[in-house]
Amino acid sequence: MRAWVYERYGSVAGLELRDVPMPSPATGEVLVEVACTSVNLSDWEGLRGTPAYARLSGGLRRPRRTTLGSDIAGVVAAVGDGVTAFRAGDAVFGDNLPRNGGFAEFVAMPQTALAPMPPALTFAVASAIPQAGAIATQSVALATPGDRVLIIGAGGGSGSLAVQLAVATGVRVTAVDNAGKLDHLRSLGAHDVIDYRLVDPTRTGPYELIIDMVAYRSVLAYRRALARGGRYAMVGGTARALVRMLTVGTVVGAASGVRLGLLVVHEGPAHFVPLANRVAAGEVAVHIGREFAFDDVPAALAFHGEGRANGKVVVRVREA
Ligand SMILES: NC(=O)c1ccc[n+]([C@@H]2O[C@H](COP(=O)([O-])OP(=O)(O)OC[C@H]3O[C@@H](n4cnc5c(N)ncnc54)[C@H](OP(=O)(O)O)[C@@H]3O)[C@@H](O)[C@H]2O)c1
Repeated sequence: MRAWVYERYGSVAGLELRDVPMPSPATGEVLVEVACTSVNLSDWEGLRGTPAYARLSGGLRRPRRTTLGSDIAGVVAAVGDGVTAFRAGDAVFGDNLPRNGGFAEFVAMPQTALAPMPPALTFAVASAIPQAGAIATQSVALATPGDRVLIIGAGGGSGSLAVQLAVATGVRVTAVDNAGKLDHLRSLGAHDVIDYRLVDPTRTGPYELIIDMVAYRSVLAYRRALARGGRYAMVGGTARALVRMLTVGTVVGAASGVRLGLLVVHEGPAHFVPLANRVAAGEVAVHIGREFAFDDVPAALAFHGEGRANGKVVVRVREA
């Protein structure tokens, strides 16, 4: 089978399309023929080996897993011993983080990472949901109706879903991203929008909840934007922001009556299937900004990583 392989952290120039051995599903694993894989920021981080936490899970000097791609949708090709939930021919979707392997024609993944695909969804839409859906669901679960909620990085895969879930929860949403994404964010229901290249969102507010997909500011800046008793949840961002949040953030939060910390997102079907069902029912929309062919995985990663994607980027591994 063919897979996109990289052996060193760096740029898309290091990706090679190679013939590699077909994976064999181990006990408890399912072999999936991949139809679509969506791109997440975690793929870009894994390609470049930065922020530093990408190397903590992916390998310090070199990538341990040499094929990226975690969110997939496809058809079960074979099952390993002990798999009872799936059989060959089932349409499935799931998130294979941190093992990855989705930019390939076949991937073997634990049955616990997969769910049956709702029939109303296309492979492209289903592949766009698992990781971003889990992030959006768990971050918006921190909101209470009536809150003022700031979502930083709102125009990306997780943010676009989080905005819709937050609006449906009955909060007032201020969505932050680059100017090219603000009309899209308004169309998703955001009450206010901010271009991060023009306005520092931590100088707006106050907010009861801040959800930050791309943290890099100081703890005091986030503290300044919180209402009394408010909460700041860092979902992703620089390693420096992470260290500051886990050290200074704890102290500043305790001293000033707010909560500042990291949101550790739980993976797995329990965390993305409810949202997928809402997408299938037409209550929440997945916006696919652009689809790429399998031969164009480097271009897909670059398009996402260089900030040109409005919504999700999807790779069609198997042409329908
Ligand atoms: N906490 C956990 O357990 C966990 C688990 C998995 C993933 N993650 C993290 O979750 C995060 C979200 O991932 P995703 O795939 O949804 O990302 P994404 O699709 O790349 O979206 C990120 C968005 O943020 C925007 N952005 C960039 N810089 C910004 C700034 N300074 N201010 C405001 N917006 C900015 C980007 O726009 P541009 O086009 O302008 O760049 C993009 O629209 C990632 O950081 C990932 O590492 C966390």
